[in-house]
Amino acid sequence: MPGASPADRLLVALDVETLAAAGGLLGRLQGVVTGCKIGTQLFTAAGPAAVEAARTRGLRVFLDLKFHDIPNTVAGAVREATRLGVFMLNVHASGGAAMMRAAAEAAAKAAADFAVPRPLCLGVTVLTSLDRRALQRDLGVSSTVEAHVLRLAERAREAGLDGCVASPREIGLLRRALGDGWVIVTPGIRISPAEGGSRPDDQVRVATPRRALAAGADYLVVGRPIIAAPDPAAAARAILEELA
Ligand code: C5P
Repeated sequence: MPGASPADRLLVALDVETLAAAGGLLGRLQGVVTGCKIGTQLFTAAGPAAVEAARTRGLRVFLDLKFHDIPNTVAGAVREATRLGVFMLNVHASGGAAMMRAAAEAAAKAAADFAVPRPLCLGVTVLTSLDRRALQRDLGVSSTVEAHVLRLAERAREAGLDGCVASPREIGLLRRALGDGWVIVTPGIRISPAEGGSRPDDQVRVATPRRALAAGADYLVVGRPIIAAPDPAAAARAILEELA
């Protein structure tokens, strides 16, 4: 995404319990951010109304529900997400090539059927909560995390997906292997100590906004450093300034 503005790149994770809390946060961030991420907590609590609340405020929505099911079921879910008007959504790359192809095709067909823009479809590679030991012991994968991330991202691209979610640690590897057209979204962003700093919370592989951008990320997902800040708008502005 060369040339994109800092505001285009920042997606605030609306990890809150209720529609009212999401609305309050969106109100405080009005005019500062232009994109958000709605994940399983808020979507389970509030459903499509959460997407609607963000869209009516003019925000682009990344619907982070990480679909993982048989191709027909994932295609149906992607069709409904596309109907909601989200600009980006994701599926688990470990669901296999046929499932990812079904997702990509469903997004294109639904966009045409409902006359909305086709959402970007991302593949989730290896959850950042898994390390090499868990990959081997729990999933029977003997390669390194990095090699498995790259393999899944390559399968995702062959299946017609647009990009993937990656930890700051894998951005460089993916960018070099998959080129500039591949969309990379990264969570695990924490503000530089020089700018006031933010706690890592439960994130292990973290990067500052500037480093993530320099490594080749297109979009940065930021949750707690913004939503748990005393002044969320000021925290978002600080991140945008670091990106500028
Ligand atoms: O609060 P924080 O900035 O850590 O929030 C990061 C967001 O990104 C959360 O919504 C989390 O679910 C999401 N995420 C993540 N790691 C991944 C994928 C998504 O932290 N690998």
